[in-house]
Amino acid sequence: MCGIVGYVGRRPCRDILFDGLRKLEYRGYDSAGISVVQDGRFSLLHSVGNLDNLEGILDQIENGGTTGIAHTRWATHGRPSSENAHPHTDCSGRFAIVLNGIVENYVPLRAELQAEGHEFTSQTDAEVVAHLIERAYQGSLHEAVVEAYRQMEGHFTYCVIAVDEPDVIVGIRKETPLVVGLGDGENYLASAIPAFLSQTRSVIFPEDAEVVVITSEGAELFDLDGLPVRRDTQTVDWDDEAAEKAGYETFMLKEIHEQPTSLAETLAGRIAHDGSVVLEDLGLTPELIREIEQVVIVACGTSYHAGLLGKYALERWARLPVEVEVASEFRYREPVIGDDCLCIAISQSGETADTLAAMRLARQAGAGVLAVTNIVGSQATREADGVLFTRAGLEIGVAATKTFLTQELAMLLLALYLAEARGHLSPTEVRAFTDQLRTIPGLLRDYLEAGAAATVNEVASVYAPSRFFLCLGRNLGLPVALEGALKLKEISYIPTDAYAAGEMKHGPIALLEEGSPVLVVATDSFIYDKLMSNVQEVKARGARVIAVASQGNKGIEEIADDVLYVPKVHEMLSPLLSVVPLQLFAYYVAKNRGEKVDQPRNLAKTVTVE
Ligand code: AGP
Repeated sequence: MCGIVGYVGRRPCRDILFDGLRKLEYRGYDSAGISVVQDGRFSLLHSVGNLDNLEGILDQIENGGTTGIAHTRWATHGRPSSENAHPHTDCSGRFAIVLNGIVENYVPLRAELQAEGHEFTSQTDAEVVAHLIERAYQGSLHEAVVEAYRQMEGHFTYCVIAVDEPDVIVGIRKETPLVVGLGDGENYLASAIPAFLSQTRSVIFPEDAEVVVITSEGAELFDLDGLPVRRDTQTVDWDDEAAEKAGYETFMLKEIHEQPTSLAETLAGRIAHDGSVVLEDLGLTPELIREIEQVVIVACGTSYHAGLLGKYALERWARLPVEVEVASEFRYREPVIGDDCLCIAISQSGETADTLAAMRLARQAGAGVLAVTNIVGSQATREADGVLFTRAGLEIGVAATKTFLTQELAMLLLALYLAEARGHLSPTEVRAFTDQLRTIPGLLRDYLEAGAAATVNEVASVYAPSRFFLCLGRNLGLPVALEGALKLKEISYIPTDAYAAGEMKHGPIALLEEGSPVLVVATDSFIYDKLMSNVQEVKARGARVIAVASQGNKGIEEIADDVLYVPKVHEMLSPLLSVVPLQLFAYYVAKNRGEKVDQPRNLAKTVTVE
């Protein structure tokens, strides 16, 4: 989720590039850099931290060159540091590149290039691109970019400048954004429109594997064989704020729609060709993994729900006893744990005070601590023995959506990894699951692109005036129901309870009266029939049932008043899809009630106080 901007034209571009970066700050930042072609060489600046730091040193390069690229980084590989900041250059200093995304095969590529004598100066996956282009260059930057692209796996966008071709920028994308801005005697390449919106509203959206060559005169697009491609120029009428939200009405809605990409980032490079799970930096040797007797998961809010889902996977696949506890309670207990315990702390921010305190308590008791977090360099990463990054990209909406889904996926990967290492799942069994996991980002993308938001809005608008909601689920459906209820509470302010469906008859069923809306997570599972008996019980009390069900389940239409279908997948993976209609449901209930969903009352994105 980095931000890229490139400029070629007639004006000195240092400050234009910096202004572009400012507009991309919402995409995340932990370091930044600029490179401008000037007098037959690059003027290059890197800084760590937010853009104020780069601004403070900006006058170290003259504002003279008229071609340049800039980057604001959201670390995925390599810690935030000056050497890991983009742009990266090759050994000869003739090419500079910026990249957004992940080069999944960077490890073998790097080894191959090093064996040929290329010297690397960073720990990033991105630097391989500079060296691939150096190796491929034979007088045409365009051709070298194509050659590098052919060797790279993953999902990424990169833009390149060359001292030998000082009036050109070449860019290419694969499953990550790249947009061309067409000005008068100047042109732009960027990862998002806000980067150049103050300069031009004429844009071209290249597709994957189309090479874009921009000069001050215009933009040309080619396919990988060098044949010209025609794409229409479009005019955007967004204001600055709409542009930051990529045209969505809120950050939350944008982030819900970013979930397929976020899931792809979480998976990137973590499933090997043989289908096994590859997790680096866990801080767990095979011996340590075998010695684990107990797992304790600590987290708050949405992250706690991801922990509950993790429990099902760790128990079922890795046969480990797992306790999940809200961190604010765990920190004041006297837990009976020791050095055979693995404590997993889940926190998107990595800064939640209660979760950090719970981690410290577990560590004092002798447990090893693994942090599952979205933020590189956060406090949780500094205090843990190992880290599993969720790679959701920066989340701005206070109500967590894409960070939840990526936490859930990270926990599934971890459970499969531990299950195989402990001998509870065979490589073939693991492969069966990882093969299906690979399909999830695409299934979710298709679901969202087929108009899920509009479908859910239709149903949500009917129930928006409700005074109370009940959410029900069983087994893996229960954490999903809990998360759906939390979303409703956070952004619509409607009192909502979530319960294990089998527990209804022990009390909560008394809440129901004629017309009470009950959301049920009813995707296909071994416990579906039992759940349906519970649904009959609530129907008999006059409740209106809104069911989230697997595509193809026509029978449920006879019981439920409304059905929100999601693609059918293995029940262990189904929460990755079934929670999305609940996010959308909460979203549209809130919107229909006129609430401001991005900044719900009384809430903060990161809770750094007890
Ligand atoms: C989720 O929508 C909330 N914003 C909140 O429950 C959040 O999940 C909780 O505060 C934990 O935050 P963390 O993941 O950053 O630790």
